Amino acid sequence: MRLEGKIAIVTGGAQGMGRAIALRYAQEGATVVIGDLRQADAQKVVDEITDSNGKAIAVAVDVRNQQQDQALIDSAVNQFGGLDILVNNAGVGKIIPFLETTEQDWNFMFDVNCKGLLWCSQAAAQVMIKQGRPSWSDRATRGCYMRGRFSRIERIRLHYAAVHQRRWWQLAKLITHVRKSA
Ligand SMILES: NC(=O)c1ccc[n+]([C@@H]2O[C@H](COP(=O)([O-])OP(=O)(O)OC[C@H]3O[C@@H](n4cnc5c(N)ncnc54)[C@H](O)[C@@H]3O)[C@@H](O)[C@H]2O)c1
Repeated sequence: MRLEGKIAIVTGGAQGMGRAIALRYAQEGATVVIGDLRQADAQKVVDEITDSNGKAIAVAVDVRNQQQDQALIDSAVNQFGGLDILVNNAGVGKIIPFLETTEQDWNFMFDVNCKGLLWCSQAAAQVMIKQGRPSWSDRATRGCYMRGRFSRIERIRLHYAAVHQRRWWQLAKLITHVRKSA
């Protein structure tokens, strides 16, 4: 079990790739905190994990809300004593013709996909820097899940953060800095 003793938060873990990540992390021995808008579905994933002798809890969160993101991170720390892995998986996509995209559409996607990631990462970074054992995955989830190999997470994560999601390159730098100084 490659994640024995690790505590992981998976945002958007109630369905889709987040659910798959949560289940796989639990199989690998991680304690999983699932943060999602859809509490009932998140609880079903928790039940699947606990039925297989894994450890998990569900926390209702709208990642757009900074206070709720802080509470999500706090719940991992308060209930399990720390945080090793944050998977910023919660996200939304609206496939709309370019010329029909409204400010409301843009704000919605920006708030979930960017602000949500920022607030969760900031709150998690505070904990991880104190602990000196950071780990991250920012929407690199497709690559990680399809390849199904944890050993490649690091490369994929940095690839996505630094290349495809250039706006997050500072985050990758922070992680590298923390790793070097840990
Ligand atoms: N499916 C793809 O092909 C694909 C490709 C590239 C990237 N992605 C990204 O990967 C991630 C997972 O994709 P998926 O297809 O499994 O998505 P999905 O729509 O099946 O699941 C997303 C989950 O995030 C939750 N969520 C949405 N908004 C939220 C919010 N504001 N706060 C908390 N939770 C919220 C939903 O309730 C849901 O459980 C998303 O970020 C998506 O944008 C998906």
